[in-house]
Amino acid sequence: MPRRANAFRVRPVMTASIRLRILRYLFYNITARLASDIFPLRLVQGKDLGYNYRIEPQHNEIDKCETEEQDMKRIGMLTSGGDCQALNAAMRGVVKTLANSREKVEIYGFLDGYKGLIYSNFQMLTGKDFSGILTKGGTILGTSRTPFKTIHEPDDNGVDKVESMKQTYHKLQLDCLVILGGNGTHKTANLLREEGLNVVTLPKTIDNDLWGTDMTFGFQSAVNIATDAIDCIHTTAASHGRVFIVEVMGHKVGWLTLNAGMAGGADIILLPEIPYDIDKVIDKIEERDKNGSRFTIIAVAEGAISKADAKLSKKEYKKKMEKYPYPSVSYEVAARIQEKTGREVRVTVPGHMQRGGSPCPYDRVFASRLGAEAGKMILDGQYGFMVGYKNREIVRVPLEEVAGKLKTVAPDAAIVKEAKLLGISFGD
Ligand code: F6P
Repeated sequence: MPRRANAFRVRPVMTASIRLRILRYLFYNITARLASDIFPLRLVQGKDLGYNYRIEPQHNEIDKCETEEQDMKRIGMLTSGGDCQALNAAMRGVVKTLANSREKVEIYGFLDGYKGLIYSNFQMLTGKDFSGILTKGGTILGTSRTPFKTIHEPDDNGVDKVESMKQTYHKLQLDCLVILGGNGTHKTANLLREEGLNVVTLPKTIDNDLWGTDMTFGFQSAVNIATDAIDCIHTTAASHGRVFIVEVMGHKVGWLTLNAGMAGGADIILLPEIPYDIDKVIDKIEERDKNGSRFTIIAVAEGAISKADAKLSKKEYKKKMEKYPYPSVSYEVAARIQEKTGREVRVTVPGHMQRGGSPCPYDRVFASRLGAEAGKMILDGQYGFMVGYKNREIVRVPLEEVAGKLKTVAPDAAIVKEAKLLGISFGD
């Protein structure tokens, strides 16, 4: 049986620890068997069974890695990009599916996104790590952004990121990587696929802007939070007869603003995809005044843009933003309305609250379903796909179709037309 130690720097195992290791082996075997009644995993019990490795806090150095198991599946897992709700639920779905298959599986959890893969910073995970996390927000693996546009540039110490990720993968003899992320993450995942690694991805983002899937997990939870914010603002806006702006996350796409705006009964919705004319926004406020409505709620996406700004070249726009006096676009919209109407305008920014907290029930179910399908793909040995959702069905979408494309709100989409029928203004 070939030993995997060749792939690593081997250091002698201390003879004095052998007895302790046997005791540990027995202990973990017994506890694992007991635990399997509750959570029936056949995952190998991390560092204490069959092989040894050392984890250092910032950078794992794999001293020795050998296992007796030939029929073992070795799965690397990571979460990358901005976090969102239900990342843990999705990972749990993958692991539960693998565990219930009775295949032997090792799970290598890479910490803080692609950084963990680049710098070999990982933890061996067992079934216990995925137990009780269905409702937990954030990600048990941690996350970070590793911009795709600099992926081919060496880091400060000259490390070639792509080569380093490949090395980690091969050194650990992984069968595949399960990668959870949004747009940027999918570009890198596709690159790794092109470099010959087996990759399965899961679509996470509160922005719901991933190509190839009608829905991403995190989105519905964020819609709930942003809608709650608009609901709260509604009562105070009505009491004071004010114009209120609620700024919703989404720099490039407006799905979250559109859905939360409609759910919260916003009167005006400003999206990155539909440039606004401030005079049209004011027309709507004045129309409401005339009709006896004392207040107006405006849902503004972080990336909302005026018609004038949309006409600027990239360079001109960048120049304008260098001297931009407002913390964000909402404050600019508020200032313009105030200047032109003399009305009192207030801005509320729920910000990262929209990504936080426990996933809503929809996302728990949705992420679990996606996770289950990812687990099945691994068992089928089918790689190079994102698990998506199309026409109410879970589907496998080739990564090359997903990477580098944004799913934006079309200005003539049915939902936009319907919102307009309801009297919502988009300022266009
Ligand atoms: O990608 C999700 C998202 O929450 C966007 O909606 C938002 O614009 C951005 O991330 C915020 O990024 P950061 O985590 O860098 O603050």
